Formats: sequence, structure tokens, C-alpha cells
Amino acid sequence: MGNGIAQVASRAGFEVTLCDVSDAFLDKALATIGKSLQRDVEKDRLGEREKREIIERITPSVNLGDLARVDFIIEAVTEELLIKTELFKQADRIAEPGVILASNTSSISITKLASATSRPDRFIGMHFMNPVPVMKLVEIIRGAATSDETFAITRDLASKMGKTSVEVNDAPGFVSNRVLMPMINEAAFALYEGVASPKDIDDVMKMGMNHPMGPLELADFIGLDVCLAIMNVLYDGFDDSKYRPCPLLKKYVDAGWLGRKSGRGFYQY
Ligand code: CAA
Repeated sequence: MGNGIAQVASRAGFEVTLCDVSDAFLDKALATIGKSLQRDVEKDRLGEREKREIIERITPSVNLGDLARVDFIIEAVTEELLIKTELFKQADRIAEPGVILASNTSSISITKLASATSRPDRFIGMHFMNPVPVMKLVEIIRGAATSDETFAITRDLASKMGKTSVEVNDAPGFVSNRVLMPMINEAAFALYEGVASPKDIDDVMKMGMNHPMGPLELADFIGLDVCLAIMNVLYDGFDDSKYRPCPLLKKYVDAGWLGRKSGRGFYQY
């Protein structure tokens, strides 16, 4: 999602520093951005020159030290508490004191992530939806210590990036994944129990409820590892068995069948 966030920020006119752990990942990110913008060029919604300028405003970097020069930081690394906490500790040391640290986490507690830094009042959740250039929504999540000023600046940034924001208090899964993930998990249970085939389960939701994608197709799109991580956050966060992850979801993740990104999930790609 990081490349999508970089793309919309740059398209809104911001200078973007896009950090990742290797040049190979950065090259892949820039190629994805180029491909996504090219769709709009082909549809006459963007000129070739503008496309070049959007890409030029993005500076790829493998050096976290470059965060010393930025005004706002949006993190979008793997959905694991320890990895995110470690990164935020470093970003907190590097960034200027007033800079806001935002996390694109899908479900991890903003309050908990904020407490790993020296600036919990300048910490916030900024949860984009996939594909970022297409989906209008940003869920903005206030941690226990997030200040009103931090919220206002973040909402203004989301608006400048062309997004509509909703204000959410910190709770497991926020709103988006508290509602979406149990539906996906239930679809996995329906498959696990042999109620219907993946295609028929998805067709019910696509044609019966007008969802653009069926829940299993959407799970493959999001990543089954991400879906499982979010179910575990709901399960642990509420201490409620109604959120237990479907055994089939766990099995697929154990097998490395993570959805589109690995070539296989509920479907083959
Ligand atoms: N970059 C830029 N534009 C893109 C794009 C991308 N990666 N992918 C699709 N598009 C654009 C297309 O250009 C097209 O634009 P126009 O209609 O303006 O011409 C439009 O999106 C539709 O694309 P397609 O016709 O190619 O395909 P589609 O109609 O099947 O739509 C989809 C694709 C937008 C992904 C649609 O299937 C959809 O909305 N799916 C549901 C997505 C969803 O639910 N996302 C939220 C997931 S949950 C999440 O992200 C949060 C979390 O924490 C897990």
C-alpha cells in the first residue's frame, strides 16, 4: 500500500520520500506507480508530462535518515506489532520534534504503537484502503493521547490527498476491519464446511449484495496473512470466540498460499 500512498501524495503536489529496505522493492514500487498512472494517461485523465512530474516528486530511499527532512511520516510496513514498533522508535529518533507519525495499520492499536514513541500526542492512525489510488476512504484513528491538533492536520492532509476521512476511536479492527474481516472469515468457514464453492460464495455477495468483489476474492486481494493477522487482533482484543480465525485460513497461510501476491489463495492466479 505504501506505493499507492506515495502516488496519491505526489499527485496532490507533495514532495515524497519513499523508504523501503532494498532498491529492488523501491524499483517495484515505482514500476507499480508508473503502471497505475499510465491507466489515467490512456484514459486522457493525465498528461504524459504530469505523469513524469508525479514520479519525479517521489524520491526513493533505503536510508531512514532521510526522514530527518520530512514534515509528516506515514508508515505502511508489514502488519506485525514488533516490526512497526521498532520502526517507529527509529522514526521518532530521526524526525524533527513536531513531525506527526501516522500508521497505515489495518488493526493494531494506535495507542500501543504511540506509546513506543516520545510523542504519543503527535501519533495517529491513517488507514487507507486498497487500491489506494482508487478507494476514496481514509479511516483516521485517534489513539488515547492523540491531540486535537494532530487530528486536524491529518484530516486536512487526507483531504488534500483527495480522500474522504472518517473519525474513529482506537478499538480492535477500528470500524473497517471489525465489520469486513468477520464477513471474510465467515465466508472461509462456509467454504471449510463445504456449504458452497469459492466462486458460488463470491457470486452470492457480488450478485446478491452488489459487492464489487466476493469476500474470498477480496481476501486474496488483501492477502490471507493480513486477514489472519487482523482476525487475531480482533480475537485477542475482544477476548471473544466469535472472532476465532477459520482453520482453513490458518492452513492456507501455513502453506504460503497468501492470495494474489503468492499466486495462490482461495483461487489460483
Ligand atoms: N491504480 C489505479 N487505478 C486503478 C487500480 C490501481 N491499482 N486498480 C483499478 N483501478 C481503476 C481502473 O482504472 C478503473 O478506473 P475507471 O473506472 O475510472 O476507469 C477502476 O479502478 C475500476 O477498475 P477495473 O475496471 O480495472 O476493475 P474493477 O471494476 O474490477 O475494479 C476494484 C477493481 C476497484 C479493485 C474493485 O473490484 C473494487 O472496488 N474492489 C473492492 C476493493 C475493496 O474492498 N478494497 C478495500 C479492501 S480492505 C482494505 O484495503 C483495508 C484493510 O485494512 C484490509
